[in-house]
Amino acid sequence: MPWVVRDAVRDINRMVARRWQAIDPLLPDPGAMPTGCGAPLVVNGDNGRLAGLGICVHQHIPPESLNQTWGAADRFTLVPRLAGHDVAASAGVLLSHWRDHLSGVGAARGADTSASVVWPSQDITGIRALLRHGLAPVTVIAARVRPTGPTSAPRGAYGMTIRAAGPADEETVLDLELRLIRYDMHFGGPVWRSATARLVREEVRGSLARPVTWTWLGERAGRPVALLVAQPPQDAGWIAGMTSVAPAAYLQTMFVDQQERGTGIGAALVRHLHAQLDASGVAVTLLHHSQVNPLSAPFWYRMGYRPLWASWEARPASALR
Ligand SMILES: CC(C)(COP(=O)(O)OP(=O)(O)OC[C@H]1O[C@@H](n2cnc3c(N)ncnc32)[C@H](O)[C@@H]1OP(=O)(O)O)[C@@H](O)C(=O)NCCC(=O)NCCS
Repeated sequence: MPWVVRDAVRDINRMVARRWQAIDPLLPDPGAMPTGCGAPLVVNGDNGRLAGLGICVHQHIPPESLNQTWGAADRFTLVPRLAGHDVAASAGVLLSHWRDHLSGVGAARGADTSASVVWPSQDITGIRALLRHGLAPVTVIAARVRPTGPTSAPRGAYGMTIRAAGPADEETVLDLELRLIRYDMHFGGPVWRSATARLVREEVRGSLARPVTWTWLGERAGRPVALLVAQPPQDAGWIAGMTSVAPAAYLQTMFVDQQERGTGIGAALVRHLHAQLDASGVAVTLLHHSQVNPLSAPFWYRMGYRPLWASWEARPASALR
């Protein structure tokens, strides 16, 4: 990269870092740009100076990866860096460049494709441009910062017990995990694949075989009715870079049997996890939820989470306009 361009990219990154910190201190430093598929998409400001740029990343997720269940098989992701003089206008120009770029990519015309942009939830400046270009907010990354002050023993739920799951619980955990995926499919995120059940089983088996499992079951009258799975910081490195705060844990799965919802079981399981995380010095816990899941957003925000990032998506990628 010629030094003039390198300096311009560095200046943009500095401005983005300042803007993000002012908007939301939980946002990380923007960091290095990924390599992407080709030359950066460039937005020039009125004064002819660089106002922003974007990198398009192309990913093919193979059928043998559980990741293919979480979205389209071919993913095109725009990584934007907008300096901040007129973010709304720059976002519009960048998204138009990106649309034009993808219209020349054969693989982006298939049915099992998505075009997505991960945008800071508190950065409201670009939202109209994202909507105008046919993107919808599908998934949210929400965060809970460890509260300061004294902690108390976590409150349970009436008639319910919590226990760590072990290898003998494979069928139960698998059943609850698959029910969650089927429920979440209503909101346009996960896609049921021929390998989904097998790959989830393998993941469940692997995690239940660990000496310390981060999988808990909520039971009523001895019957498992709820599941919570988390990743401690040593397993959550893949998402830790989404926030400035460390160490970060990840809350992976939360599901309560339909008949048992609204009776405090979900909250009791989450409080149980939070007590453990808070005591072990975990500074922030992240999770994904579907933006339009009518049960999850109110629940998580009641449990101390708030939105950090939103993933805006067009599916198939050709729906980007
Ligand atoms: C989301 C879910 C786990 C909540 O579990 P739950 O056991 O029903 O929740 P609780 O009864 O413990 O509720 C805890 C608190 O959140 C509130 N709450 C829960 N769901 C709510 C909703 N949909 N709307 C408003 N408030 C809600 C409760 O009123 C309660 O508040 P309170 O402490 O003032 O009494 C459960 O609805 C579920 O399994 N949904 C389907 C799967 C899913 O969406 N999982 C999350 C994926 S990210």
